[in-house]
Amino acid sequence: TPPHHVAVLPGDGIGPEISKVAVALLKQAGQKEGVDFEFTEAAIGGAAIDATGSPLPEETLQICRQSDAVLLAAIGGYKWDQLPPEQRPERGLLGLRAGLGTFANLRPAVVLPHLAEASTLKREVVEGVDIMIVRELVGGIYFGQPRGFSTNEQGHKIGFNTMVYSEPEVERIAHVAFQLAQKRQGRLCSVEKSNVLEVSMLWKEVVSRVGEQYPDVELSHMYVDNAAMQIIRNPKSFDTIVTGNIFGDILSDAASMLTGSLGMLPSASTSDDGPGIFEPVHGSAPDIAGQDVANPLAMVLSAAMMCRYGLDLPQIAEHLENAVSAALDAGYRTGDLHTPGMQRVGCSEMGDVLTRYLVGEPAPV
Ligand code: NAD
Ligand code: IPM
Ligand code: MN
Repeated sequence: TPPHHVAVLPGDGIGPEISKVAVALLKQAGQKEGVDFEFTEAAIGGAAIDATGSPLPEETLQICRQSDAVLLAAIGGYKWDQLPPEQRPERGLLGLRAGLGTFANLRPAVVLPHLAEASTLKREVVEGVDIMIVRELVGGIYFGQPRGFSTNEQGHKIGFNTMVYSEPEVERIAHVAFQLAQKRQGRLCSVEKSNVLEVSMLWKEVVSRVGEQYPDVELSHMYVDNAAMQIIRNPKSFDTIVTGNIFGDILSDAASMLTGSLGMLPSASTSDDGPGIFEPVHGSAPDIAGQDVANPLAMVLSAAMMCRYGLDLPQIAEHLENAVSAALDAGYRTGDLHTPGMQRVGCSEMGDVLTRYLVGEPAPV
């Protein structure tokens, strides 16, 4: 069988540390199954700014376009925080998402049995949580025009953005969400702010209309402020959530704390055709970068999502997921998840543990 071409974008901060763990595991799992991966590394974000002056060099976009899937770690850091908006690392990531047209961002928040104790919320609240957040990723206020800085009539400097969605943009993300809900528990909650925003009134109207094609899915609507509260109060009341770009960004970080740590949440961003982007929900964590203490599990689980949704390699995905469960089951925890009585490990050490479970020799560290 021909090799699977994967573009690897380590980016900034903890990005290179967690990428190393995920790529090593993919190689191991590939060997086990006779699957060949070909990894091509490319620069993005701050690292790309330093090397080329651009957060998304044309060469990187080309490498990604020609790959079967993109495995991205994280971008950003203090060093580049003072740059003008169009030169920031974040623009590289947004440009990649737009360039590949990955409009559907799937962010599962699943509480693994071993981690119910690690959440800041009570065990009985989080145990068994399994939420799928479907976030629209290439529209909304992140991309709407006009945007920029200006001066108002009083001579004050102003900053402004535009939250805008068109009917087709809402339709396509709604279809993705309804079809996912069908394969899950059949409940979809659309989250918006239609009591205030026109863009949300349109969102709600279009999602409701698309819903008529999915009579087997139970559709509900919720304002985003209430959703932020309900996700903490009673997370098990949610099955699938569909929402716009910025609301999905915020709700997914909130949902991560159900699972114990932001370092646990993977994501998959897919388009209608072409390669998807697979990346953790968290950022480059500059506060802990270079210390080999980051949790690589969100990155490993993103690699698993890549295998399942992007490369049609479910058996590899299972190897990665099983290794993660086995390591947690055995009590290995990075600092973000550490609780008394558990075995604290660093990032590369966690990688070694995962590798050992993957190749089937679960010796202690
Ligand atoms: P962050 O997600 O990087 O970090 C938030 C907090 O969570 C930090 O305390 C960090 O140490 C911790 N954390 C995050 N991931 C972790 C992991 N894997 N293991 C252990 N701890 C982890 O968010 P931030 O601090 O607000 O942003 C830092 C930079 O990352 C910014 O430049 C931001 O723009 C960027 N960012 C990038 C992405 C991305 O590349 N997809 C996502 C979010 C933020
Ligand atoms: C995420 C990040 C990005 C976003 C930033 C870094 C552009 O927070 O992937 O959640 O807001 O989409
Ligand atoms: Mn975010």
